[in-house]
Formats: sequence, C-alpha cells, structure tokens
Amino acid sequence: MSNKIIINADMGTNVINKNIYGHFSEHLGRCIYEGYWVGEDSLIKNTSGIRMDVVKALKKLQIPVLRWPGGCFADEYHWKDGIGPREKRPTMVNTHWGGVTENNYFGTHEFLDLCEQLGAEPYICGNVGSGSVREMQDWIEYITFDGKSPMADLRRKNGREKPWKLKYFGIGNENWGCGGNMRPEFYADTYRRYQTYVRNLSGNRIYKIACGSYGENFRWTEVLMREAGSNMSGLSFHYYTVPGGWGNKNSATEFGEEEWFDTMKRGSFIGELITRHGDIMDRYDPEKRIGIIVDEWGAWYQVEPGTNPGFLYQQNTLRDALLAGLTLNIFNNHCDRVKMANLAQTINVLQALILTKGEKMILTPTYFVFEMYQVHQDAVQLPVDLKCRDYTFQEEKIPALSVSASRDKNGTVHITLCNLDPRQEAKIACELRGQNLKKASGHILTSENMTAHNTFKKSDLIHPVDFKALKLSGSRIMVSLPPKSVVVLSIE
Ligand code: AHR
Repeated sequence: MSNKIIINADMGTNVINKNIYGHFSEHLGRCIYEGYWVGEDSLIKNTSGIRMDVVKALKKLQIPVLRWPGGCFADEYHWKDGIGPREKRPTMVNTHWGGVTENNYFGTHEFLDLCEQLGAEPYICGNVGSGSVREMQDWIEYITFDGKSPMADLRRKNGREKPWKLKYFGIGNENWGCGGNMRPEFYADTYRRYQTYVRNLSGNRIYKIACGSYGENFRWTEVLMREAGSNMSGLSFHYYTVPGGWGNKNSATEFGEEEWFDTMKRGSFIGELITRHGDIMDRYDPEKRIGIIVDEWGAWYQVEPGTNPGFLYQQNTLRDALLAGLTLNIFNNHCDRVKMANLAQTINVLQALILTKGEKMILTPTYFVFEMYQVHQDAVQLPVDLKCRDYTFQEEKIPALSVSASRDKNGTVHITLCNLDPRQEAKIACELRGQNLKKASGHILTSENMTAHNTFKKSDLIHPVDFKALKLSGSRIMVSLPPKSVVVLSIE
C-alpha cells in the first residue's frame, strides 16, 4: 500500500493547548537537586541557586507549564518544611526514591522562582495521602492571598511581598497507589472535601485537577466522573511505556528491533486509552468541559548500570525520540479532550530532556522532538486522514506512520511525522486541501543507529538537521521519510 495523507488546511476547530507540551519535575534522584538546584554558592553558574544552562535550554522549548513536587513525593510532602531560612528547614526521608534525606532547600519560593525564570505556569500537586485539609488550604493562602492573613504575612516574612498567580493545582497524586491506596469511592469523597478548601483568593482562579486513572483502570474514571465531575476542571491520567513490562524492563541503550517494536506498540496504546477514558467522560461531560490532564507519561527502562535504582536515571536514544513524536501526535489529535500533558521527568529522571553530570549538561533526542514540535503550541489542529502501510515485526503489526498537523496564527501549516519502521523508508504523498502551497521546509531527527544517543563525551551525536527530501507539486507535497525518523514540515 502506498502512503497517503490528506490534510484539510482550511478546516479545524480545536486548538492544541500549549500545555500539552508541559513537563513534570519531582523530588526524585537528581531531577531537582543538581538538575535545577545547585545553590547560590555553587561554582555552576546560577540565578538564585537555579542553574542557568538548564534554564536557557528549557526556555528554548517554551515550556508552558511545570508540575511539581511529585509524583509519589507529593503525598508525603509538607510544604511548610520547605519555606524560611534554608539552614533551619527540617529534613525528611524521601521514602519512595532511594530513601535519601531531603533537605528541603528547594521549596515553594524556589519552585515559583524557577517557573518565573522559565516563563512557565506552575502546576502544584497537593498532599492528600498524608496531608491535612488545613495544610492544603494554608498553602493556597500562602501563595495567592494579597491581603493580611497569617499565611500571607508568613510569605512576606519569607521575602515575597506580592502573591504569585497559581492556576493549576492537583488534589493528590496516584491516590489509588502511592498516594494512599484509596478506592475510587473513597477518593471521590476525599477529593470533594479537599477541593472545597482550595479557594480562589485575591482574583486568582484555580483549575482543580483530580487524581485520575492509570492505564486500563476505567472504573476509576467512571466513579470519579459520576461522584465528583462537577467539582473538577481536569482529571489526570498516567501512562508509562514500559517495554518488556514492569517485571522485565529493557536497557535504555542496549536493545534490538524486538524491543523497538514493543516500545512503539505499547506507546501507541495511549491513543486507545485516551479514547476509552474519554468515552466514559463524554457520558458525564458531553461538552468536554473537563480536560484530560496526562500529567505523567514517557518511557521507563532499567536504570543506568551502577546508578541508584531509586533515582530512575536512564539514557535516552532515538527510540525515545520516536516515542515522544508518536505520543505528542496522539495528544494533538485528541486535543478536544487532552488539555495538558507533562513528560516524566525533565532532567536526569526517566524520559528526560536534559542529562547532567556535575557542571556538564547534554540534550537528549527527546529534547529535540520538543524543540521541533513546539510549533503546534496553541495552533489550530487540522483534521488528518492517514492511509499507510503497516510496520510488521514477526506476527504483529502497527501503522508505520504517525502524523498530526496544525495551522498557526500566521497561517503556516505544520505537519509532524514519524516513521516508526526502523528498516523501511516511507514515501508519502501529502495533499493539502484549501491552501495554496508556496514553499515548504523541514527538519529531521534520525540516525543510522536505532540506539543513537548523546553522551557526556560525545554530546552532539544526534540532533535535528534540515530535511531536504520534500517536493511541492500542485496541492501536494511529496516526502521521503528515512527509517526511524521524526520530521517537522512547515508549509506556507
Ligand atoms: O515518575 C515517577 C513516579 O511514577 C511518580 O512519582 C508516580 O506518580 C508514578 O508512579
């Protein structure tokens, strides 16, 4: 079968919320400490303790939103331990992640400063599992209240006169698991109670996000929508791509086609999950007022040999780039319901954008996909009709291509394409209806080697380059995608 794409460039009603290009950073391993926070006295260049090289690299991606402090850490985090003079802050044991001592040097002020430096919206996840309603209520008051009150005065005493704006607030994380092992009925009631005290103060309006399901737990979605739908703005959803399965995880860098195929197949499954959870939500919320917030997603492999198993430090190859491109295309194509997504996790943890080693920093293939795809942020999603051959491995098959398209505010159409097949090139005829094609250009991320990755010795082995294998002909654009490649096209 030949590959054919039809895009209706003059249609499209849904906007791809820029928050789909959001990120997640937890107090886990070297994500916060070393990844962002080095302290004011560090020899690594920093602004108020936050490393400048990392901020510069992330700003280039126009990160719209950053989720913090967890993850499982969130339901053990007591925010008052992370304010005031740093040397006086109490420590805690990070029980989930390596059992290390957390010194609480990076707390509310540092996180909100980081977001200001990045130009990103903060998304804070509150503690339901082991925290009190009062603690959550106080946190909101501390951050957002402009008037005189115990919490606002405490904030001022700690050096911040004016409140911050805080839009996104999560009421717990994975409360069916590490966040309290709750049943959906119990969590739904608990959610209703906690969210009552998450107030809109001083003109700040909070978009409340309830803890949602993982994978195929459809009952969780059903109960939450039925019992608490009217009290939430968003419902989270988590899905990790774990090639081999949880008990038999892959190496991040040493794999063959069997693992490659498994990754793409498991990665594609998130589309079906969004459809099925979305179908349940549609019954309670046909207007799609409530967003699906995929606030954890990404690849999960074995940790790098010799590293702390609790730190989840893994390398990142071309395989991760394809997984990121495929997943972001799926989110774009579901943008009527998916309003935010947060890759796990930004630096040194799971499918990271950035890896650091002391003062050194490298960008991963996943970073470059976010760089290429940022053109979709807040653009109008265009309907795409894709007919393509399958990528077959042994007895199994998946579509070889993944695509999404959008039109930005200047009228430029962007198409992002992934050829998931690591062996065969894909020739594609792409027809753009409703637009006169004048010029087209593109960028590509690929390599001869499916395990290609950047290292601290060779930091520039893989990065995007100009894409030349394209030709305009009337209303069509003909492209040849090399095997295992991610491409972005810009068409005027
Ligand atoms: O991202 C790592 C962990 O995965 C998070 O802390 C948790 O929410 C999920 O299980």
